[in-house]
Amino acid sequence: MFLNSNHSHTIESAIRAAAALFEQSALCFGHGTETAIDEASWLILHAMGLSPAQAPDYAEILSEEQVAACNAIVQKRITDRTPAAYLTGQAWFAGHCFLCDERALVPRSPLAELINDQFFGLLDGVEKPAILDLCTGGGCIAIACAHASPEATVHASDISNEALALARENVDLHGLQSRVQLLQGSLFDPLSERYDLIVSNPPYVDAQDIASMPDEFSHEPMLGLAAGRDGLDLVRIMLRDAADYLKPNGLLVVEVGNSWQALEQAYSHLDFGWVEFSNGGHGVFVLSRDAL
Ligand SMILES: C[S@@+](CC[C@H](N)C(=O)[O-])C[C@H]1O[C@@H](n2cnc3c(N)ncnc32)[C@H](O)[C@@H]1O
Repeated sequence: MFLNSNHSHTIESAIRAAAALFEQSALCFGHGTETAIDEASWLILHAMGLSPAQAPDYAEILSEEQVAACNAIVQKRITDRTPAAYLTGQAWFAGHCFLCDERALVPRSPLAELINDQFFGLLDGVEKPAILDLCTGGGCIAIACAHASPEATVHASDISNEALALARENVDLHGLQSRVQLLQGSLFDPLSERYDLIVSNPPYVDAQDIASMPDEFSHEPMLGLAAGRDGLDLVRIMLRDAADYLKPNGLLVVEVGNSWQALEQAYSHLDFGWVEFSNGGHGVFVLSRDAL
């Protein structure tokens, strides 16, 4: 027990105690938070049935039941190394809240910034854009695109039926059934249309990084992470076939994370445009259909 039930605790003291324990336990952050204090705030407020958006009274004294709920969630985070988003069942992406569980990765792509910043102008002048989110997982990128571009029609595909079931719940949650269509199959297999923008956060972790990942990642579906020896198994197919699914001025935007160097080496003849983010993140390229 990290909170002694014989003593009184405020929300603030519970958060500070949890954060200190997280630091001692050398947890890995990066599944929605960057620091122990953020992670602790999220979990303690969730255990109390509160949201950070509600501006809680941090001096409030916890009831006995609340102390028990905080102890349980903090214990589970430390013992099982389960990411906080799976413990709370929620994640935020591009300013929107999504249902989140082990059927899909925890949303964390830097693509959120590009989408929220009106696609960095990439879709300027395109009326009613047709957007494809390839490897959609729980649907966060597709749904964020639909919110950012109210005129857009969005298709979202994934090979995993489990991930798509979660994506369906998220599409329903956001009331976007008429604008976001979900398709099941491997990469381009289920698709027959052309798009103005294909955006993707595919699996791209190389074999070396997979072997050394912190325990938190073991809760996520391996299908969403691993992509062969150099992390490029899926991206190779995208580079080979994407032109057939893009309109004449269409663009391919793909996150490859740490595999960007392997990609530059393997495709030195391609002129990748690497996106610069203000909010952190790297390894996202843009290629036009012509450049492909
Ligand atoms: C890195 S996750 C990204 C999920 C989501 N786009 C996000 O940003 O949170 C990659 C997704 O690719 C899917 N996937 C793996 N292999 C695939 C394939 N051959 N075709 C389509 N989707 C695939 C996985 O099921 C997983 O949901």
